[in-house]
Amino acid sequence: MKVLILPDAEAAVQRAADFIGRCVRSRADAVLGLATGATMLPVYDVLARRHRDEGLSFAATTSFNLDEYIGLAPDHPCSYHRYMQDAFFQHVDINPARTHLPKGDAADPQAASQNYEALIAAAGGIDLQILGIGENGHIGFNEPTASLGSRTRVKTLTESTRRANQRYFASFDDTPRFAITTGVATILESRHCLLLATGGSKADAVAGMVEGPVTAMCPASALQLHAHATVILDRDSAARLTLLEYYETVHPGGRDSTFE
Ligand code: PGA
Repeated sequence: MKVLILPDAEAAVQRAADFIGRCVRSRADAVLGLATGATMLPVYDVLARRHRDEGLSFAATTSFNLDEYIGLAPDHPCSYHRYMQDAFFQHVDINPARTHLPKGDAADPQAASQNYEALIAAAGGIDLQILGIGENGHIGFNEPTASLGSRTRVKTLTESTRRANQRYFASFDDTPRFAITTGVATILESRHCLLLATGGSKADAVAGMVEGPVTAMCPASALQLHAHATVILDRDSAARLTLLEYYETVHPGGRDSTFE
């Protein structure tokens, strides 16, 4: 696992956008695994700006999002379909036919989950999976105790995740209880994983992911098993890492040679 520590959240966001931009430039038809959440919004802003100002093109890119709430139609204002449209897709030249999110409003969510796995496989697998991390250590909506061998399926959200997401909905009761999420094993099959975390509220989860035991209690710790996982952090989210100085020695200023 490469741990890149940047001085602040803005620098970490730029670093993540650089990483994604280099991937897309080096392979125009890259298959990206995309994430939602507040952490990713500024990353999509930077990528959209680079599309507008520098011609960074996503025209041949295929994308698969990590997750979607069960019961929300694509045009629901709080759906991740809508998030992706608003934050990214409508600002770049990505082909809508090549963008994929799990169908949260499917009549049979289990069948939709299996179909999603098949679509990822048919696309040749994911080249670069972008990830955020929950305060409870989740990746996608793989909540604590999710099987580390899991595939795309329906997950029940924890109260802590629903509380974190409540701000987007009218009330806690209106906050969805279930989601379709790609599994931990699905994520681990990606050729590269790039996880971005910013802010002190993520410091415990980040420490568990990087330095804790590999455990289903912190699903992000499964990234320790991945041969090409890069973690980009600001100082606040890195604050609880025991080997902080070591990571800064190995990758001074958060530099890394992947895609450079
Ligand atoms: P956040 O979500 O970026 O809104 O904190 C991250 C996640 O839950 O994966």
